Amino acid sequence: MRVLLTGSSGWLGRTLAPALRAVGHQVTGLDVVASPETAVVGSVADRLLVRQVIGDHAIEAVIHSGALHKPDIERFDRQAFVDVNVTGTLNLLEEAVAQGVGRFVFTSTTSLMICERIRAGAAGGARAAEWLTEDSPVQPRNVYGITKLAAEQLCRLVHREHGLPVVMLRTSRFFPEADDMAHAIAQSDENTKANELLFRRLTVEDAARAHLMALDRAPELGFDLFIVSAPPPFSRTEAAALISDAPSVVARHFPRYPELYARRGWTMFDSIDRVYDPSRAAARLDFTCRTTFADVLAALEVDAESL
Ligand SMILES: NC(=O)c1ccc[n+]([C@@H]2O[C@H](COP(=O)([O-])OP(=O)(O)OC[C@H]3O[C@@H](n4cnc5c(N)ncnc54)[C@H](O)[C@@H]3O)[C@@H](O)[C@H]2O)c1
Repeated sequence: MRVLLTGSSGWLGRTLAPALRAVGHQVTGLDVVASPETAVVGSVADRLLVRQVIGDHAIEAVIHSGALHKPDIERFDRQAFVDVNVTGTLNLLEEAVAQGVGRFVFTSTTSLMICERIRAGAAGGARAAEWLTEDSPVQPRNVYGITKLAAEQLCRLVHREHGLPVVMLRTSRFFPEADDMAHAIAQSDENTKANELLFRRLTVEDAARAHLMALDRAPELGFDLFIVSAPPPFSRTEAAALISDAPSVVARHFPRYPELYARRGWTMFDSIDRVYDPSRAAARLDFTCRTTFADVLAALEVDAESL
């Protein structure tokens, strides 16, 4: 297929573009920042440009990953978020419909499900980890989440009114940079990321695979929304224990973790405040992340043996 990929110069885009080509798609990258994956340098907020790109490249499918996201809150005002994340998404959806594009995949975020109360976790008085599914009520806490939710709603509207097949992926974190400190372990970014794979992270390769699957399945699904995150080992019945004593819960599932972590000088978070549940994606999209916390432990085990 001829695919328009927005955000092609970004972290996800740079992994997703080659993955798309590897399975035979022709990719046209659109981004405000130039890179080897970006054929067209410009903004999704520019309606005329979006129209031209879709027309000139006879685009058959759109993967819309370009966005201002959480780290950009420091550098851009609210209007910029609305222009890029809301108007940009509307431009792509409407031009897709006008020019007969057959499918649309939107990269959303689990961040929009986190209100201040959930984020406050145990310190804010939470008695149990929040178990988050696609049906959980949402109240985004910042302009990033608000504009991503608005974009999801536009996807829903355009699907309903025009029938455009749309799959929206609420991905959890896959960024490589250091954490925003909500859960961070000061000494080790690697340790933080390993812990997060239990409940709120996936690899960028898995994020790219989820987009490939969504692209394939969009016409058959018609419209759907999926949380995409590494599968958590926990069950809902453990939600209270996750808040009060996460290390004990993790040790129940992975008895070798305390020793393997201790050898590395790693620690587990004391408390886990939310679990992103990707089971709908497993059931309906036939997608499960390949890399999990168990893989991290297996790698630590190999390291330990080679010492
Ligand atoms: N990184 C994460 O952990 C994470 C988690 C959940 C969701 N997401 C979502 O995944 C997508 C990709 O994120 P990423 O981590 O690769 O971020 P990124 O910042 O590396 O990539 C986003 C890209 O979008 C581009 N962009 C910004 N404004 C644009 C505009 N007006 N027109 C066209 N392109 C524009 C940027 O230049 C950048 O290359 C985003 O939609 C983000 O909201 C990311």
